[in-house]
Amino acid sequence: MSSWKWLPNFIICLINLVAIVKSRFPTPIYIHSKCQNNGSYTSNSTYKKNLDTILSSISPNIDTNGFYNNSIGEKSYRVNVIAMCRADLQPSQCRRYVRDASIEILNKCPGQKQAILWHEFCMVRYSDDAIFGNVAYSPFDWDNNIENVPDQDKFYKELNMLLDSLRDHAAFNRSPKKFAAASRPYPDYRTIYAFVQCTPDITSDECGECLKKSALQIRECCDGPRGVRILRPSCYLRFETNPFYNETMVKTLP
Ligand SMILES: *[C@@H]1O[C@H](CO)[C@@H](O)[C@H](O)[C@H]1NC(C)=O
Ligand SMILES: *[C@@H]1O[C@H](CO)[C@@H](O)[C@H](O)[C@H]1NC(C)=O
Ligand SMILES: *[C@@H]1O[C@H](CO)[C@@H](O)[C@H](O)[C@H]1NC(C)=O
Ligand SMILES: *[C@@H]1O[C@H](CO)[C@@H](O)[C@H](O)[C@H]1NC(C)=O
Repeated sequence: MSSWKWLPNFIICLINLVAIVKSRFPTPIYIHSKCQNNGSYTSNSTYKKNLDTILSSISPNIDTNGFYNNSIGEKSYRVNVIAMCRADLQPSQCRRYVRDASIEILNKCPGQKQAILWHEFCMVRYSDDAIFGNVAYSPFDWDNNIENVPDQDKFYKELNMLLDSLRDHAAFNRSPKKFAAASRPYPDYRTIYAFVQCTPDITSDECGECLKKSALQIRECCDGPRGVRILRPSCYLRFETNPFYNETMVKTLP
């Protein structure tokens, strides 16, 4: 028996080791991109030069509402860009994340004339087509939590009520940020937290339409997950059964 004396110490060592490894390699930030395969540029082209210039202009110039829109260049060398941070970020966090995203989008979609990247806390999108003020439902993507909810019909009834009220609020409130976030207790399970946001360049009706399409997509995409992100260029929808947005910040916004 005495030969097992080392076991508790060994286990403690192992736990410490896991903790050290985990802190050295933090959970990666969520990043999802869509390269549109709609034309390409070469590394020495004017398009590439304009793209580099405009992407590096996002972080220093993004406004305090977390939105940026710009276009540079002429004709086929013209690059249009839109960037938006999640509405619950502070301006300093927003600048940091859009900087990361503007670098990452080039890594993810090298040589592509049109691309979009959804980062955990922001979205960056560029194109040789005009994009400002044009509602875009695609490219579209989604991601879901692999854990399912126990009583799906009941859960989604509650969720839809929450999303309906958030959609109206995001689309028709008069704040410069078209967003809404709230939670709703779900009896015998957990609380439902949801967050929706549209880019501010589209109309209220377009925002409502975009979020409606996304809400309908939730049941299409997966089988009763307890969390989903629906990603479109003009609107963002996410819900979870754990808090994922900054509730303090959401409460202090108009
Ligand atoms: C591809 O780009 C062309 C020209 O810029 C545009 O007319 C067309 O709608 C784009 N197609 C897609 C699928 O984005
Ligand atoms: C750009 O590079 C391609 C091949 O990499 C070359 O054929 C072309 O001449 C270059 N264009 C300019 C403007 O340097
Ligand atoms: C976005 O770009 C459009 C077109 O260039 C311009 O009219 C508009 O003022 C810009 N809006 C913002 C908020 O920068
Ligand atoms: C949430 O927002 C509050 C109020 O702006 C801020 O003090 C706090 O640092 C934020 N929390 C995180 C995790 O960013």
